[in-house]
Amino acid sequence: MLTIVKHPLIDVKLSIMRDENTKSKEFRENLDEIGSLMTFEVFKDVETFDSDVKIKTPTGAVLPKKKLSQKIILAPILRAGIGMVDGVRNMIPTARIGHIGMFRDEETLEPHEYYFKLPVVDNPLVVIVDPMLATGGSAIAAINAVKKRGYKNIRLMCLVGVPEGVKAVEEAHPDVHIYLAALDDHLNDVGYILPGLGDAGDRIFGTK
Ligand code: PRP
Ligand code: URA
Repeated sequence: MLTIVKHPLIDVKLSIMRDENTKSKEFRENLDEIGSLMTFEVFKDVETFDSDVKIKTPTGAVLPKKKLSQKIILAPILRAGIGMVDGVRNMIPTARIGHIGMFRDEETLEPHEYYFKLPVVDNPLVVIVDPMLATGGSAIAAINAVKKRGYKNIRLMCLVGVPEGVKAVEEAHPDVHIYLAALDDHLNDVGYILPGLGDAGDRIFGTK
């Protein structure tokens, strides 16, 4: 289950992010905006209901206020996933936020979990966010961690992925729908996405 969210605005913003001359502030702004645009697709099948609260329009009509039927949890994979939260939360202000601490050993590319905290709510839709889907190891470990705590309805929202990462996640978790803004070519020999955009965490937080 893979959806590439295709839109000309996403293509333009992503090419700004790929440019090595783009500074951290502009990189983050474009990530926010792509996150907001992708939200339209990732949540398009979430149902709504008419709540008991009434609204009155300027023309005097009284209508029930619409609400989302499902509680939403956004779960960024630390650190870089943090950079995708605001864009989605701007569209869904009621979303609760969890955190999954995961880093890739730069030698072995193996993921290591160092932190986990998700809100406890009834039957939520958990959307794990991380800009980069490379080997898929971090995403698979994050999904394992979320499932281990009993959450069932899980989606994965990334910016850029590669076929090997998508395949790995699909094989490990066929029930998890993956959303990408772009499917790139392949990984280089040190596990970076080509053409990619470099190290997302470093570019978001200015650590290099
Ligand atoms: C990056 C990225 C993903 C992971 C993807 O995080 O944000 O979490 O690598 O690689 P994978 O698919 O091969 O696991 P990194 O571990 O560099 O940590 P950071 O977010 O702290 O920079
Ligand atoms: N993590 C990143 O930040 N970038 C890549 O290209 C691969 C993994």
